[in-house]
Amino acid sequence: MLNVFKLGYVEFKVQDLQAMKTYYESIVGFRLTDEKNGSAYFSSSTDHHNIILKESTESGISKFGFQYTADGSINDVKDHLKSLDIEADLLHDPAPGVKEALQFKDPDGYTVELYPEMDLAEERGFQKEGIRPNKVGHLSIRVSDAKKQVAFYEKLGFYNTDWIEDFFGFMTCNCDHHVLNFFTSETKGMHHLALELRSYNHLVETLDFMRLNGVHLEWGPSRHGAGHNIACYHYDPEGNLIELFTDGDVFIKELGIFDPRPWHRDFPQKPKVWSTDECLSLWGVDFEKALV
Ligand SMILES: [Fe+2]
Repeated sequence: MLNVFKLGYVEFKVQDLQAMKTYYESIVGFRLTDEKNGSAYFSSSTDHHNIILKESTESGISKFGFQYTADGSINDVKDHLKSLDIEADLLHDPAPGVKEALQFKDPDGYTVELYPEMDLAEERGFQKEGIRPNKVGHLSIRVSDAKKQVAFYEKLGFYNTDWIEDFFGFMTCNCDHHVLNFFTSETKGMHHLALELRSYNHLVETLDFMRLNGVHLEWGPSRHGAGHNIACYHYDPEGNLIELFTDGDVFIKELGIFDPRPWHRDFPQKPKVWSTDECLSLWGVDFEKALV
């Protein structure tokens, strides 16, 4: 009855709201749609918001939200979650543009929200300046036990697409290779947030644009193994690792395979366990800094 289908928004605690607003507006190219109670809301193009910056004494991720459809009311979904041993709070008007949401903690204590509807942004479409990604593509978080997290999100209807060994699990709720992944680690917090670009040309133009605006790459670009996305990474002004990617695998859930691509080595390409060495940089390029 519950169909979670989209990573809708990610909220960050920020210490220097102005610096982070400038990054999301002028570098990323998202549109500021609202600002109230110490939070700034940004839209990639259509939704009221996809990124929330919340003023704080700390930096880092504070919550993330997924949109869903369901047969019944939000109270029915709350009851459904309860039947899965997930205690959720029903929130009224939790954010501008969102009238109702269910909020709960996942096994690692991350705050997750499920919402059925979000208003459209008043002003829509892509900005003229900045990177202007298609969307917030996926979120990678550090957890104490990736296996446990994968099992939890499977209960919510997510599908486990790939593993890197036994410490990095990939999950999707739509046709993207992953919208979430979990990295077993002794520390907590976000590993990276990934923004989807349109093409490799868009990525190359973006790297020139970033360089001219003082944003330096940390890793990449190269094509990953799991997901096959061409990816590169940089830090935002508060040290959050941001991935820019394009050309990720498309999952055909009904067949349990990824849509074939010339750079695949398995035909059909099915969800599998990758070794770290074969997975990170398929182009064979070595980078100074390790990703995991
Ligand atoms: Fe990623």
